[in-house]
Amino acid sequence: MVKARKYVVKRNFQGVPKKDDFEIVEYELPQLKTGHFSVKAEWISVDPYMRSHSISRPVPYDQFGFQVGKITESKNPDFPVGCRVVTHKGWCDYSVVTNLKEAHSNVYIVPDLQGLPLELALGALGMPGVTAYFGFLEICKPKAGETVVVSGAAGAVGAIVGQIAKIKGCRVIGFAGSDDKVQWLEKELGFDKAINYKTADVSKALKDAAPNGVDCYFDNVGGELTTAIYSQMNLYGRVSLCGCISSYNEDPTTYKTTSLLPFIILKQLKVEGFIVSRWSEPENRWPEAIATLAQWIKEGKIKTRSHVTEGFDKIYDAFVGMLAGENTGKAVVKVL
Ligand SMILES: NC(=O)c1ccc[n+]([C@@H]2O[C@H](COP(=O)([O-])OP(=O)(O)OC[C@H]3O[C@@H](n4cnc5c(N)ncnc54)[C@H](OP(=O)(O)O)[C@@H]3O)[C@@H](O)[C@H]2O)c1
Repeated sequence: MVKARKYVVKRNFQGVPKKDDFEIVEYELPQLKTGHFSVKAEWISVDPYMRSHSISRPVPYDQFGFQVGKITESKNPDFPVGCRVVTHKGWCDYSVVTNLKEAHSNVYIVPDLQGLPLELALGALGMPGVTAYFGFLEICKPKAGETVVVSGAAGAVGAIVGQIAKIKGCRVIGFAGSDDKVQWLEKELGFDKAINYKTADVSKALKDAAPNGVDCYFDNVGGELTTAIYSQMNLYGRVSLCGCISSYNEDPTTYKTTSLLPFIILKQLKVEGFIVSRWSEPENRWPEAIATLAQWIKEGKIKTRSHVTEGFDKIYDAFVGMLAGENTGKAVVKVL
């Protein structure tokens, strides 16, 4: 019998999640039946949606989060021992897959990463990369020469969106929360301009960076920053509404936002929210995005960075660190 460990959320989060909202529980893995296989986690993801989804989920709960691991035992010929898989088994070190259909996506064998690091299967070559690829290209429909703004620009999704926009010939402006992130975006990733939204006069800085206005906005954060950006959108601009992390730690019964509607009406904006699973059902298009992103990374057109925390016991710290902006690039935990 393999002894496994998992995090269980035992109390609804109030504000920033606290360490004792979680409990690490030991449990025995069940015996494998036909079609089942067991997985030893190697990399575990911490993502903003774990905070926002908790708002609507009953406690206690577990099994949230993508992870990539190695199959250690198998009674499923399609998933042989030694093979790497992406599952949504969450914050656990060992698990048994009994059903390939999971809450957020189906279990899948890690595609050919063309020699790139395995943890990218949780970042640029996983859910966040697919989010950036389809959420930007299919909703913003960018054209060469247009001005694109990305908020949360130095994070897992935002950094990829900005680089795709450059590949498509756009002028790209990113907002991020520290001077180091701004440097990284401008000097390494090739953003035309990056702005520290915590210290800049956001409206003025955007006016200077985009004197002819904004054509596409990929929104990861919401809040006041988003209002300032809407106010400088051009006629028929497109907004891809990916996330609103600025409000995830707030009480959902008191959500507020400054008025966006006049800008949407007067500028005749197209604003569309999306969930990345849109491109996995009924037709699974994730492989198409992952293959293209892998090619762009190999060609040096997209650069990636992982913010690695080591140790299963440190997942909580990695999670709240990511919510507080400690990560540049994708926040992942290496299971030792
Ligand atoms: N719709 C979908 O299917 C989908 C899929 C994946 C992700 N998402 C959303 O996309 C967004 C980015 O996700 P990610 O995985 O790429 O995370 P991430 O950007 O790698 O990490 C979160 C970042 O959010 C920023 N942040 C935290 N509080 C903020 C605030 N009050 N105002 C502005 N920025 C704040 C921090 O960066 P700074 O230092 O810059 O503040 C932090 O590093 C999230 O809103 C997430 O929910 C949506």
